[in-house]
Amino acid sequence: MEQQTEKKKIVFSAIQPSGTITLGNYLGAVKNWVAMQDEFNCIYALADLHTITVRQEPAQFRKNIIDAYASILACGIDAEKSLFFMQSHVTTHAQLAWLLNCYTQFGELSRMTQFKDKSAKHADNVNAGLFTYPALMAADILLYQADMVPVGADQKQHLELTRNIAERFNGLYGNVFKVPEPYIPKNGARVMSLQDPTKKMSKSDENVNACVTLMDSPETIMKKFKRAVTDSEAKVRYAEGKDGINNLMTIYSAVTGLTFEQIEKDFDGKGYGDFKTAVGEAVVEELRPVRERYDKYIADKSYMQECYRKADEIAQKFSQRTLDKAMKKIGFVK
Ligand code: TRP
Repeated sequence: MEQQTEKKKIVFSAIQPSGTITLGNYLGAVKNWVAMQDEFNCIYALADLHTITVRQEPAQFRKNIIDAYASILACGIDAEKSLFFMQSHVTTHAQLAWLLNCYTQFGELSRMTQFKDKSAKHADNVNAGLFTYPALMAADILLYQADMVPVGADQKQHLELTRNIAERFNGLYGNVFKVPEPYIPKNGARVMSLQDPTKKMSKSDENVNACVTLMDSPETIMKKFKRAVTDSEAKVRYAEGKDGINNLMTIYSAVTGLTFEQIEKDFDGKGYGDFKTAVGEAVVEELRPVRERYDKYIADKSYMQECYRKADEIAQKFSQRTLDKAMKKIGFVK
């Protein structure tokens, strides 16, 4: 972390350890995190505090946290260049979240579409944390004075609220928080279910063939792509109404860097069978080194521990400055 000497912009993002990391998480988010490491001062967190807004079984939760940390490291996050820490290990997050709760309106939180969706989905556990989740997310971002936050479409509303909270706070107390900009990555792919390409790819899908995870074996990945839903036109082209093929083209393009036009040309006159095999093979090759590194990290927990302890400590120090400033402005006695 050399933010003082180099004037690189600060990027902050986080991901929840709510299960195995999927191809959708990878192509939509983590691959871009990796790509941004040279150009920006990147700060990434495993947002484990957010995850308990939905009830977790303790042993499984513990395993998911370690798995997700290892997976994301394995995707290519370089501990020398970027910070990658555990949100729950850095005490300032819950602390600033409480403060920001008092500067966030009930009405604003009520309008969050994710809250509405999740409270419908978990009707037996509509807890206060689920409701105030965006204030914790705002704390994550604002603690690091982030310039930019790469987020997918589903988190844009939360980022907009973060900006409103920051502006409101700054309006009351002067410039305490940097107001962050959303960062829409150039090639952030929105990966859909392989079985129902109108739905986002999700690890909680009942149909196991709908979702590819980073830990799937090459055979499993090939099988899932061969079973992917397509259409009856039998022509590889990107067009409305061809959700299955559009999704496969999006995945293939994100992995190979080829444009849709190039893909259409390459597969002109070829059938869907050939195309599915090519997409599957490209994904297998992309994920092979990720999986190899994952196996290495998971077998050596002490290396991982060393990584997050170092990052946790730096994050704690960095974020403490912002928390102290906010508390002083509010009027707390030091
Ligand atoms: N809420 C985000 C998600 O579920 C994860 C997250 C937590 C996050 N804190 C963040 C993302 C801060 C960006 C910035 O996907």
